[in-house]
Amino acid sequence: MSEKKKQVINKFTDLFGEPECIVRSPGRANIIGEHVDYCGGLVLPFAIEQSMYFCLRSNNTKDINFHSVDYDETYIIKEGKLNYAKEWCKYFNELIKLLDRRGLKVIGVDIAFGSDIPIGGGVSSSSALCCGLLLLLDQKFNLSLSIDEMIELAAEIEHGIGLKGGNMDQTSILVGKRGYAVLLDCETKEYSYIALNLEDHFFILFDTNVKHTLVDTEYNIRRTQVEHALKLVRKEYGADQTFRNTNLEQIKFIKESHPFYYKRIRHVLNEIKRVEEAVFSIKNQDARLLGQLMNMSHASLTGDYEVSCEQLDFLAGKLQLHEQVLGARMMGGGFGGNVIALMTKELSQKQMVELREAYRNNFGYDFRVIKVSPSNSATIVEANQ
Ligand code: GLA
Repeated sequence: MSEKKKQVINKFTDLFGEPECIVRSPGRANIIGEHVDYCGGLVLPFAIEQSMYFCLRSNNTKDINFHSVDYDETYIIKEGKLNYAKEWCKYFNELIKLLDRRGLKVIGVDIAFGSDIPIGGGVSSSSALCCGLLLLLDQKFNLSLSIDEMIELAAEIEHGIGLKGGNMDQTSILVGKRGYAVLLDCETKEYSYIALNLEDHFFILFDTNVKHTLVDTEYNIRRTQVEHALKLVRKEYGADQTFRNTNLEQIKFIKESHPFYYKRIRHVLNEIKRVEEAVFSIKNQDARLLGQLMNMSHASLTGDYEVSCEQLDFLAGKLQLHEQVLGARMMGGGFGGNVIALMTKELSQKQMVELREAYRNNFGYDFRVIKVSPSNSATIVEANQ
């Protein structure tokens, strides 16, 4: 059993008694398809083993006790009156408001949660929190929410907090399957599973330790920019134009007049194509091609989309030079967070020491290494599992 799960159950039992319901909600990694989910593009993420764990039981009062095991703090909501604005409580407040608008008053429960997902590290701890809470409350209050409804609600919570994200994170967390990546078409919301049997290859995250909440970055600005770029394309070719039926040739007309929008939209169109090629490479067991596509994705996110940062470029650049790294790219919203690397073998101790020293000399702090593999979706679990 995961150490974190044990810790959350023990703390919950000390504070509130035996849990009635336990939920595990994983983080997510993304092989390729970055900054295209909110453009109706294709993405190829997977749920990871590292997870958030939640325990719940009724307390027969009108109050909610919401305890963070990691911060060792309890947020008490007396008779439904939301009051606390600390970062980790914001998502919970937003969820309570959302369910309230749907006519459901959440009261009378004790909840504790804790996580071994690196927070603010680009593996979507916030979506794990939203999806996990929804699953927990769905179970407790018999809401009978479908997976699609949960995906939408979880995204709505994050929009409420101020992040105008897409639906990649919530979908991979709620439908992930061990051993598979999720090929998600963000336009139709349809998904299929792509078996990840890349024989001797595996994924490692190199966490820059640059922490952020995406709300404080230019994430939303990028979304506005590509929406504006699409408007220009529609003006030229008609209202049916989408990121999926537009090609590079068609956007040439803005290259001179709007070079900036041209770059943004070029990333989106190329990245969607790379996802198609990545699926092809995985099906053909061609890890080298997959690695090359990942490298190209990084270059595009840095040059055309400008969502990378010095630390991400440094790590991706250095990693790409190693023989056992087939590809390395920034992952997630950017401006910090992780580089995901496709590897054939771990870096040797000497290579790792050199990389650590170089990183520390440049930035004054270390990076973190996290091994990730495709795991199952968020789910109700047993205490002893
Ligand atoms: C964040 C958002 C996602 C997606 C990625 C970038 O993780 O939550 O919806 O846009 O950034 O691909």
